[in-house]
Amino acid sequence: PGAGVSAGPPMGFNHYNHFGNGVTEATVREIADAMVRNGMRAAGYVYVNIDDSWQGGRDANGNIRTNDQFPSGIAALADYVHDRGMKLGIYTTPAARSCAGRVGSEGHEDQDVRSFAAWGVDYIKLDWCGADYSPDGAAAIARKWADAIARSGRPMVLSINAGGTLYVPPWASRIVNLWRTGDDICASWYNQTRSPDPASDCRNRQSAGIRDYLSSNTPANASFVGPGHWADPDMLEVGNAGLSFEEAKTHFSVWAMWSAPLLAGNDPRGMNGTDDASRVLLNTEVIAVDQDSRSVMATKARDDDGLQIWRKPLAGGTQAVALVNTRDAATTMTLSWSDLAWAKVSAMRDLWRHADLVPSGTGYTVNVPAHGTVMLRVAGS
Ligand code: DGJ
Repeated sequence: PGAGVSAGPPMGFNHYNHFGNGVTEATVREIADAMVRNGMRAAGYVYVNIDDSWQGGRDANGNIRTNDQFPSGIAALADYVHDRGMKLGIYTTPAARSCAGRVGSEGHEDQDVRSFAAWGVDYIKLDWCGADYSPDGAAAIARKWADAIARSGRPMVLSINAGGTLYVPPWASRIVNLWRTGDDICASWYNQTRSPDPASDCRNRQSAGIRDYLSSNTPANASFVGPGHWADPDMLEVGNAGLSFEEAKTHFSVWAMWSAPLLAGNDPRGMNGTDDASRVLLNTEVIAVDQDSRSVMATKARDDDGLQIWRKPLAGGTQAVALVNTRDAATTMTLSWSDLAWAKVSAMRDLWRHADLVPSGTGYTVNVPAHGTVMLRVAGS
């Protein structure tokens, strides 16, 4: 699939992080309506993506069908979503069974892609449980799906989760639009081993907290990322219990810095435009950094014992900067113009405070809360 299928990293919703395997079509419809009402659609969240557990086996002709959770079928749901000016995404695996044990697409690749196209699907998430994880095997599977989509004649985003040792796959950017870079995310700062919260869903499965991403190999994908081809650190946890407001802002900031897909993983029905989740997910200035037409993945300019400075060149010559305090206490951080490879800075804006700043001297010093982030857009030379 080419760059044209989605201009920027895809934005939308996916049910898995909040609803797991129990989602129903009625809930998906309500969520589509909520996304229109609460400002998400207007902010660019247009993909309504169904994850695992819609699949209900195959009919006598081998055509994949829905289960009792989706009694009206996917075509009706796609119509519903399209009628509201949004797009529909679906999930399958290249193995016999999905991760949740539902029927997979192995041996039915072309047939399933034809079904998806006929239903009006706009986005395919290809999970991997049980499929070939070897680099060559995974690349061959991805190629098969990309070819099947091309033959179907319908533009669809292709997103893969080949996992395992393939978190920095050099071939992925040539074949697919999105590739996952790590374990399942969970709504926590620390992962399951370090989380102090016994109620955290991160404790019970192999999963990554936000802190993990900031020291993971995810940024090693930077040289492969560009328009139409994005590294996918996983869907968002903003709005789910387990992250503080500051942690949620850090999570969202870093995803935007990385030109990552912004797929809300909360329950958008609870958003009204002014609650904390809305204040994060609907920050149009941060979204604009994510959607910048150059689609550069930010790199770390500096990491002073957990005080990280990330920078991302933007179209038109400005840079986005994230000052991320991964320490457990508030502290001051200093951005030096030299971190940006610039001698002087002429303009600066704080994208969370929505305020212009007056640059002076050789840098900018600011207090950053524990686990918090200050995000700036900077002009200079
Ligand atoms: C594993 C993936 O990483 C998740 O995002 C989700 O799709 C589940 N599988 C569904 O079973």
